[in-house]
Parts: sequence; structure tokens; C-alpha cells
Amino acid sequence: MPPSPSSHDKGVIARWHARLPSVTDATPVVSLNEGSTPLVHSPRLSARVGGGAEVFLKFEGLNPTGSFKDRGMTMAVSKAAEAGARAVVCASTGNTSAAAAAYAARAGMGCVVLLPAGKIALGKLVQAFAYGARVVSVEGNFDDALRLVRELGEGGEAALAVVNSINPHRLEGQKTAAFEVAEELGDSPDFHFLPVGNAGNITAYWAGYREWHEAGRATRRPRMVGFQAAGAAPIFHGQPVERPETVATAIRIGNPASWTGATTAIAESGGAIDIVSDEEILAAQAWLARHEGIFAEPASAASVAGLLRCVDREPCAACPLRHRPEGARIVCTLTGHGLKDPDIIKGTLPPIQSVPATREAVIGMLG
Ligand code: F0G
Repeated sequence: MPPSPSSHDKGVIARWHARLPSVTDATPVVSLNEGSTPLVHSPRLSARVGGGAEVFLKFEGLNPTGSFKDRGMTMAVSKAAEAGARAVVCASTGNTSAAAAAYAARAGMGCVVLLPAGKIALGKLVQAFAYGARVVSVEGNFDDALRLVRELGEGGEAALAVVNSINPHRLEGQKTAAFEVAEELGDSPDFHFLPVGNAGNITAYWAGYREWHEAGRATRRPRMVGFQAAGAAPIFHGQPVERPETVATAIRIGNPASWTGATTAIAESGGAIDIVSDEEILAAQAWLARHEGIFAEPASAASVAGLLRCVDREPCAACPLRHRPEGARIVCTLTGHGLKDPDIIKGTLPPIQSVPATREAVIGMLG
């Protein structure tokens, strides 16, 4: 007889249902065994930060559809199924649509995704089609697509559930990543770094850490430090960006839906929001792959790019890392898998040389 699976093997709702109050006995759980992702210690990043710091990478790219969105989507689609929805709809820079499409397929529901035309990483687009979603390419950016989804949602059509993070069940599911980090470390970290796009994730992590602390499971709450791409940094600049641009298409967003949630998380935690350039993002992505063996997509690398910026440069006055304790514990979330966006890496590949199928030819080429 096969061993019975532990509760960790069954997904976010099975593992954390006691902390997900909207899940009831009437909720049909739609899961792909998401969550319980590895928290990988990063010795080389720790050394670069110095001061005895310990850096950990929460690799959310190892969720079933390759991004952290699966945590919220198991909740949103389960609740949509409970409410009798026949289809789900979302706007997306790519990862939400991949997750929505997969969980809708699992639930036997339809899925409609609105994507900014021409600005979706190839892997994410392929996923939406593979999972059978109806793909609508919107001539505009993510903010335009989200406005359209809100309008569709306002139609009051019960059979169609909006599964963007304006759906509160999404953030409820996403907060479970904070529980996992704090449980594994035995306490909350001192700092949590993550990329910020529509700002749902930083909002959700903060809710999770607060809850864990209030429940007496942690002695402290981390400082939340968010990074936006320099060309798409509305929260950093304090005003919407009409034409956001960045190589990290996942966070190419000019008017985040959870803006207030992000500023609250930063203010309450004594954290900060800052920007990183596209060059810094791509350098961090390449560095992580080559030095730690972890391949994350560009947007994910913004958290590490931000950490490196904080430690490599003269620290700015507002940098929360300035007064870090000796041996500080720092967690960076890597939100999505590098395979999502093959074109970014493909553009940097040297020409691939082929050789005759002989030992001599291979050795000759390697020198
Ligand atoms: N990293 C990745 C890989 C993402 O896909 C996203 C958001 C973020 C970071 C930012 O997270 O929006 O909660 O601040 N992607 C959304 C999408 C917008 O449609 O897939 P956030």
C-alpha cells in the first residue's frame, strides 16, 4: 500500500484551512498540491550581504503552474465553484492567467484571460492555451485589461467569477507563504524582500506575518521591503504611471490594485519601497542562476536585485537594512520560474556550435 500523503502534500487549503476562514465544509476544494515550496538557504548571497546575515530564497517558481499565483488561485477557484460559477475571468501579465486557466481546467470551468497585447512572456502564453483558456489580447497594458475585467465583474453575472487579486480569496490564499516561511525558520525573518507589481503579494505576506505574530507563533514581524522596476514604479513615485515599461513584464503595471495594502504593509512594518533598473534585474537573474543554481523569471529577480543594491551601494538614508542586527535573517521571494520567459535568456545566448559526433570533435571544441 502506498504511504498516505501528509497534509503538506495536499495543497494550501489542506495544510492551512484552520487559518482560511472562508473555507467551509461546503467548499469544494480545487487543488493541484500547490504551496509548501522550498525555502532555500543561499550561502553566496549571505556572504555578499555580510554581517553574519542568513539569506533564504522562497522559491515560488516550484508551484504547479510555476508561480506564487497558485496559492491564491486554489482559494479563488474553490470559492467560485462553491458559488456555482461556470467560468472565471482575469486580467494578467501572464502568471495569474496561467494559474486561473489551470485551476479552472481542474474544476471543469471555463476560463477567459485578458492579456496586454504583445507583452506576455512566451511560457505564460503557452500555458494559457495549453490549459484551454479563451485568450483575449487587449490593445493596452495590464491596467487597461484590469479595468475591463472590473467592468465585466460589475455586470453582476454570477456564472462568471473575477479571479484577480481584487477577489479577497486570492490574498487569503497568498498569505500562507508567510506562514510557511515563519514556521520553517521557527520565527519570522527580520526582513522580507519581494517584487511589487499589482501589490497583492506584499499585502498578503504582511497579513500572514501579522496573523502569525498575533497568534503567538512568532516573536516579531519582518520589515517588508518591496521593489518595483524603475520604469513601472507608481508606488515609489506616489503616482500612477501611464505607460509602464520594463523587461520584467510580470510587474509592468502602472496603477496597482492593492496600492493601499502595499503602503500599509511598508508603513506598519517599518519597511520601504524602492526601484531597480532593468539591468540590475537581469544581472540578479543571471547571478542567481549561475551562483545558486536557481533560475527565476526577471520580475522575481527584482527582490534579489534590490537586496544587492542595498548592500553593494552606499546605503540610502531610508534603507531599513542600515541598522540590521548581526546575523539578520532575510527572505527574498522568487515569485516565478525562469522557464516562464525563455526569450529573455535566448537573447543572451552565444551562437551554438555543432560538432561531428566523435570524441575528438567534442574535446577539440572544449579545448
Ligand atoms: N512576480 C511575478 C512573477 C508576477 O507574476 C507578479 C504579478 C509579481 C511578481 C508581482 O506581484 O502583483 O502581487 O505585486 N503578476 C500578476 C499577473 C500581475 O497577472 O500574473 P503582485
